[in-house]
Amino acid sequence: MTHMISESDVRAALSRVDDPEIGKPITELGMVKSVAVDGPNVDVEIYLTIAGCPMKTTIVANAEAAIKEIPGIGAVSVSTDVMSDEQRRELRTSLRGHADNPEIPFAKASSTTRVFAVASGKGGVGKSSMTANLAVALAQRGLKVGIVDADIYGHSIPGLFGTDERPTAVDDMIMPVQAHGVKMISIAHFTEGNAPVMWRGPMLQRAIQQFLADVFWGDLDILMLDLPPGTGDVAIAVGQLLPNAELLVVTTPQDAAAEVAERAGTASLQTHQRVAGVIENMGAMVLPDGSTMAVFGEGGGAKVAERLSTLTGTNVPLLGEVPLDPALRQGGDSGMPVVIVAPESPTAVAINKIADSLHKRRDSIAGKTLGLGVSAK
Ligand SMILES: Nc1ncnc2c1ncn2[C@@H]1O[C@H](COP(=O)(O)OP(=O)(O)OP(=O)(O)O)[C@@H](O)[C@H]1O
Ligand SMILES: [Mg+2]
Repeated sequence: MTHMISESDVRAALSRVDDPEIGKPITELGMVKSVAVDGPNVDVEIYLTIAGCPMKTTIVANAEAAIKEIPGIGAVSVSTDVMSDEQRRELRTSLRGHADNPEIPFAKASSTTRVFAVASGKGGVGKSSMTANLAVALAQRGLKVGIVDADIYGHSIPGLFGTDERPTAVDDMIMPVQAHGVKMISIAHFTEGNAPVMWRGPMLQRAIQQFLADVFWGDLDILMLDLPPGTGDVAIAVGQLLPNAELLVVTTPQDAAAEVAERAGTASLQTHQRVAGVIENMGAMVLPDGSTMAVFGEGGGAKVAERLSTLTGTNVPLLGEVPLDPALRQGGDSGMPVVIVAPESPTAVAINKIADSLHKRRDSIAGKTLGLGVSAK
């Protein structure tokens, strides 16, 4: 006696298939258009949210694989159709509610996403490189991680991830691009080629607001913002939009850089943001003969951490010292972060150590009473 396959067997199988962008089962998203069962053979039609959906092959392959796990299954055919405007609107509403002016989910008191804004005083100290590599390292630990490339004029995140994919939109909701296990959004996704963006303060603020509120991030454990250098309009906007964001201050070991980094850190006093810690980048380089060369001097990170601890009256730790290493630059240039391509390199080891401390610090306060009569989430 062979087991008869029923429509509900097929739907149960499809409930294990997530839409890769939304991260929810396609059965819950109204994406299963039809299921036809003929003896052991199954014919399924799936709605894609938009025509030319970049996730089409993934969704179809995953649906096929799930159905083929049904015992006694025969031929499986999965075809696709595209949602109507009305269906897209319904989906958007079911995911985001009706709000005309969408809220920033990370700014809500109930949000469990830890937000890190990666800042520096000086340009070119490695903020974007640290953001990209830390995000990948955290994703490798099983966390759901997103990046907002908040450097509107000097965006570099898509390049560091080697992706020129464009985000898709479901109604007026933007689905972030994904690469190396990390979700991301950048102004680069909305401009043509290498066109410069020349905006004033309010437009910068509006762009950041949209990156946070109009993008469907899903449930993130960690959101990282790659800030432009200095304490300009974007840093102020982030302070206003995300008062719970914690600052990661990046500096080189150089004295002069440390002084400027300290300024970026103390700006947090005005925006009432916590400084999660300091990262010293471009530390002594290990030469082929095993000796080291401190191209940018030494001690800047420790100095900034100490000064910020004093100024903020909190413990601002030096989270790690990342050495100068051509492998990190090459990883950035080729779109393959060094933590993926050279995990044993001293830079990747240092970055992974920082990722561990960010990861642990989150766990360490979870569920514990802070002595204020409230328990931390
Ligand atoms: N530890 C390192 N070893 C070698 N090269 C590095 C290291 N960190 C960063 N770089 C290189 O230095 C340059 C600047 O780094 P990055 O773009 O990450 O800095 P940034 O602070 O984001 O710059 P900006 O202020 O322009 O946004 C890049 O070419 C990057 O590859
Ligand atoms: Mg940068």
